[in-house]
Amino acid sequence: RRAPLLAPSILAADFARLGDEVRDVVTAGADMIHVDVMDNHYVPNLTIGPLVCAALRPHTTAPIDVHLMVKPVDALVPSFAEAGADLISFHPEASEHVDRTLALIRTHGCKAGLALNPATPLHHLDHVMDRLDLILVMSVNPGFGGQIFIDEALRKLAAVRARIDAHAARGGQPIALEVDGGVKLDNIGRVAAAGADIFVAGSAIFGARDAEDGYRPVIGAMRR
Ligand code: DX5
Ligand code: ZN
Repeated sequence: RRAPLLAPSILAADFARLGDEVRDVVTAGADMIHVDVMDNHYVPNLTIGPLVCAALRPHTTAPIDVHLMVKPVDALVPSFAEAGADLISFHPEASEHVDRTLALIRTHGCKAGLALNPATPLHHLDHVMDRLDLILVMSVNPGFGGQIFIDEALRKLAAVRARIDAHAARGGQPIALEVDGGVKLDNIGRVAAAGADIFVAGSAIFGARDAEDGYRPVIGAMRR
């Protein structure tokens, strides 16, 4: 298993100074930047598009992890790839042709991920394991930051971890397991034990800036 990675979600950052926020979390030890894209259609909130992703790109060399909560998906894939995304995840319910969308993401040079809502069954992973670089398990319902972690996600993480390990044991490519929503200092240990290797955290990180040491204390604590 690879080392756990921390992916702060800029949804909880100060949008008026996003470039500095991104630089600060990466300096403090963040491994990638999670960008939540919401369309007020697939989810009941509206955030940012490829323009903001492109504007952030020169501010960091850390991978940009784009989480598309949009429907339809395909038209935005080339735009985010050109805007500098490294990983692009989407929800299977939001694409008519999941296999095609996954292939499209890789064609554009990005790693491809499937995001599973709390009530989305694992059978969406059937038949597309070879197409995946990442599986994102949602531990809240998508649309808002600052929600409470849904404990059922721990069982789901363990089940997805078993699928990923079985796939690797059959000679399949490595697939990262990302968890997103309500991850905090007080539950990250349990979440790690369930098998996640990429941890998204929005409010837990951006809500805990230290006046002197910035994000270093909270990121250090979440790593332990
Ligand atoms: C929810 C988003 C998450 C969320 C994480 O729709 O996909 O990335 O903003 O924020 P926290 O860590 O505050 O739950
Ligand atoms: Zn997200």
